[in-house]
Amino acid sequence: MKFFIDTANLEEIHEARSLGMLDGITTNPSLISKESVSNQKEIRSHYLSICHLLKNEEDISAEVISTNYEDMVKEGEELSLVHPRIIVKIPMTQDGIKSINFLSKKGIKTNCTLVFSEGQSILAAKSGAYYVSPFIGRIDDISYNGLHLIKNIKKIYENYNFKTRILAASIRTPLHIIECSKIGIYAVTSPIQVIKNLLRNPLTDIGLDKFMKDYKNKII
Ligand code: G3P
Repeated sequence: MKFFIDTANLEEIHEARSLGMLDGITTNPSLISKESVSNQKEIRSHYLSICHLLKNEEDISAEVISTNYEDMVKEGEELSLVHPRIIVKIPMTQDGIKSINFLSKKGIKTNCTLVFSEGQSILAAKSGAYYVSPFIGRIDDISYNGLHLIKNIKKIYENYNFKTRILAASIRTPLHIIECSKIGIYAVTSPIQVIKNLLRNPLTDIGLDKFMKDYKNKII
């Protein structure tokens, strides 16, 4: 199971790397807006800095901010030239799937984002998206079940041997990660804190405390 970190922050990327928990990065315009960048030139240079931290098979999804086909394609081509590890992230809209189709045929990898239904996931795969990003947490936010969606997408993709990789996004809790692993999802992308929360168990803390006390009481 791949752990992607949903961030554009260099310190968080370093931290994930130091934990040995970095398989890739996903960003979006909201995450980029939290960094000290104020124009397209600075944003692309920031993507490049992130790419320089990546190794082996790791990649970074960089999202287009255009919304019409011509501009999305142009922006996608430009982003793909910033660094070979960049995956062009494109929203699930009519112009979006046209752009994914075009870019995929040119050999440019894409991540179809803002996916909230099985139907959208089929269109993403049919367009040739390299990744599909269903947003689990935002579905849970409106009282539906994000994990059901993920399970259904996995089944649909298996039925037709679609090659698009499922990158479960909008992960909010350790349980989301655990359930995705049971379903057999290719990758999850989450804030680093959610991955760190997998560590937490009071029995581990109590057990460690007792081991240390017993040891110190007897051994000098
Ligand atoms: O990058 C897309 C997704 O992971 C966003 O998550 O928590 O803003 O719904 P969230």
